[in-house]
Amino acid sequence: MSPLVKIQNLSYTYHTPKGETKTLENINLMINKGEFISIVGPSGCGKSTLLSVISGLIQPSIGEVFLDKSLINNDSHYIGYMLQKDHLFEWRTVYRNVLLGLEINNKLNAENLEYIDSLLKQYGLHEFKNYKPSQLSGGMRQRAALIRTLALKPEILLLDEPFAALDYQTRLSAGDEIGTIIKKENKTALLVTHDIAEAIFNKKLLYILNYIIYTSNKKVQYIFLDCIS
Ligand SMILES: Nc1ncnc2c1ncn2[C@@H]1O[C@H](COP(=O)(O)OP(=O)(O)OP(=O)(O)O)[C@@H](O)[C@H]1O
Ligand SMILES: [Mg+2]
Repeated sequence: MSPLVKIQNLSYTYHTPKGETKTLENINLMINKGEFISIVGPSGCGKSTLLSVISGLIQPSIGEVFLDKSLINNDSHYIGYMLQKDHLFEWRTVYRNVLLGLEINNKLNAENLEYIDSLLKQYGLHEFKNYKPSQLSGGMRQRAALIRTLALKPEILLLDEPFAALDYQTRLSAGDEIGTIIKKENKTALLVTHDIAEAIFNKKLLYILNYIIYTSNKKVQYIFLDCIS
C-alpha cells in the first residue's frame, strides 16, 4: 500500500528582513490512510510550519510533499486544517457556520447537506444548530469546527493543538470526542501538540492519546522534531 502522505527530505527556512530562521531540517515521514499520527515537540520547533507545508499553504525550501502520489498544491486536494481557535463566526448560527466551507466552495448540494445533517445528529449538535457559537460549550464549539472541516470530506485532517484554548476538563472530553469522531468517519489525521509534559505525567491525557491511538487500530508514529537553533 502506498502512503497517503509522503514527506521527503523536507527543509523549511523562513526569510525575513531580519534574517533567516531554519525551521525544519530533513524531515522524512509517511502517513498511511486511516492512521492517526501525533507529533509532539517544544514550542517553536516547527510543528505549525510542518502542517502549513503539508497543507500546501507554503512551499518546502528543500524536499517534496506528496499527497496520494501527487505533489501537494493548493488546488487539487481537500485538506482539513483545524487550529487552536475554532474561528466560528458569532454572527452566524451553528448551522450556518458548519455550512461555511461548502458555501465558499460552491458545494451546497443535497448530498453534502444530508452529510452535514447526519454529522450534527450523530455528534450531538443537531438540536443546537440554530444557536449562536457563544451559546455552546468549548467542547461543542470544537465539535462544530470539526463538522465544518469534515463537511468538505478532506483527504487528511491536520490538527494544530485544537484543544489548547480549552480548560483542562473540557480538553479531556473534547479530545476524547474528537478522536472518536475522526475514527468513526475513518479519517487520516495528524495532530500536533507541545504538551508532552501533560502527555507523560497525566494519566488521563495519556488515556486520551492511547484512546485515539488504539481505536485507530493502526501503527502510530511519534516524531520528536528537535529545535534547530
Ligand atoms: N511567518 C514567519 N516568519 C518568520 N519566522 C517564522 C514565521 N512563522 C514561524 N516562524 C519561526 O519558525 C519557528 C517555528 O515556528 P512554528 O510556529 O512552526 O513552531 P511551533 O512548533 O508550531 O510552535 P508552538 O508550539 O509555539 O505553536 C519559530 O522559530 C518561529 O519564530
Ligand atoms: Mg504551532
